[in-house]
Amino acid sequence: MPDNKREHWGSSLGFILAAAGSAVGLGNIWKFPYVTGENGGGAFVLIYLLCILLIGFPLMLAELTIGRKTQKNPIGAFRDLMPKNCMVAHLIGIAVGFTGLLLFAFKQWGWGTIFILLSVAIFKLGWSIVGYMGVFCGFVILSFYSVVGGWVIGYIVEILRGTINFETTAQAKDFFVGNIGNPVWSVSYHIIFMIACIALVMSGLKKGIELSSKILMPVLLGLLIILIIRGISLPGAKAGITFYLSPDFSKITGETVLIALGHAFFSLSLGMGAILTYGSYLDKKQNLYKSTLSIVALDTIIALLAGLAMFPAVFAYGGSPEAGPGLVFQVIPTVFNKMPAGSFWIFVFFFLIFIAALTSAISLLEVVTSAMMDELKFSRHLATLTSGILIILLGLLSAVSVTGWENIPWVETVMVKLFNCKQGNFFDVADNLASNWLLPLGGMFISIFTGWIWGTTYAIKEIREGSPEFANVNIFVLLAGLKDDPKHNPEKVTWTLATTWGIFIRFLSPVAVTIAFLYTIGWI
Ligand code: PFF
Repeated sequence: MPDNKREHWGSSLGFILAAAGSAVGLGNIWKFPYVTGENGGGAFVLIYLLCILLIGFPLMLAELTIGRKTQKNPIGAFRDLMPKNCMVAHLIGIAVGFTGLLLFAFKQWGWGTIFILLSVAIFKLGWSIVGYMGVFCGFVILSFYSVVGGWVIGYIVEILRGTINFETTAQAKDFFVGNIGNPVWSVSYHIIFMIACIALVMSGLKKGIELSSKILMPVLLGLLIILIIRGISLPGAKAGITFYLSPDFSKITGETVLIALGHAFFSLSLGMGAILTYGSYLDKKQNLYKSTLSIVALDTIIALLAGLAMFPAVFAYGGSPEAGPGLVFQVIPTVFNKMPAGSFWIFVFFFLIFIAALTSAISLLEVVTSAMMDELKFSRHLATLTSGILIILLGLLSAVSVTGWENIPWVETVMVKLFNCKQGNFFDVADNLASNWLLPLGGMFISIFTGWIWGTTYAIKEIREGSPEFANVNIFVLLAGLKDDPKHNPEKVTWTLATTWGIFIRFLSPVAVTIAFLYTIGWI
């Protein structure tokens, strides 16, 4: 039964901005432009848009629907909706247990134990394991996300102190590596970023998350637009725009498609129950499918704008688009330094990234917090504080090991001995585990659960509340703007938004995500 005492969003706009705030984050502002540049510019954008439309959109609607129906955190939500005895869950449990035994046979003791424990958990918990996985994933993502958020705060402080003054990208790189490799610097800012998150989530849904998103999201859009105008009015900016937007189909491969799909997931905050949790604070009046449209559109527009803000400036000053953190932390300060009022623009840029990172981080913390509130009956204060402190502690491992394992060699020994994890540092391990494994797996299970276990009939019944046209109106009639036409007979309707969504969630999403997942683990 829905819990009537549950907090609810104050307004529809507040909810949409908060959910868009979750989606718009570091993934949009540095990752999207860079990945686009490397994968064929405009051609990649086109494929990314298709992934958003065909997979991201249906899955986001599914998460919102499950959340609103159950009014619960991801764990409680799946527990509420799952059948008592589910054959499919048992079969998955058997397959996982069998894999565990195989791993033992190959002397993979660490992974073998995890798989066996997982198999027992699947038998005991059924589909609510997907919720546990989501909460765990939120915990892991936030632990390293807040380290990057901390770097952003660190840069803002350094700008104000006047230490950011680079002539070349090499200088910028030395500065970046020097700072993030300094444990005191990175740990302090990681903790400061988490304190900001904890404070907002602790203040509750309306006063903390909703209000901050309502203020911060428009500020973010405004700042982006100023930066774009600034960027494209620079002499030489055209090369950047061409680089960013001209489609080069020769660069499109199977891998590009999969990169686009994976990024669509991360960028829309799908696969771990963040959107589900935000959906659980909605009432029946909310039009779920229109909300999904708005959130997806905002996330996509901001990603596209971020590219437009970055590339013209990079090209105008002879910079080159670099990978991941490099683009933002090294290239941007160098590029903007050469402009009039450079420090001001660098400040604006980093402030923008800070806002985007913060509104995403609070959604990650909210998943863990809401699970603790619902499952352990903690108060909001206690739940936020407990989960925040645990995340700070886990994040310490990422913060001190990002330039190498030197500071925590014992963790490396454990990782290598138990899990055969030789690549990268703890930061990479956490990122890889969450982004390449847990999110795609979560997404796949959420779509299978909605399409086959809970069932589209019940899901659509829920979506109908607040958006009757979703299931009743012929898609052609809707597109033609004729839904109020008296001649229109709903009895004869065959192809509706609802039937389209049902097919996508039952077939397209699970298959596409499975392919992406198998690709990630190197089986195809
Ligand atoms: N969507 C965020 C970004 O693009 O940076 C990251 C994220 C937030 C992923 C929340 C997952 C999540 F649940």
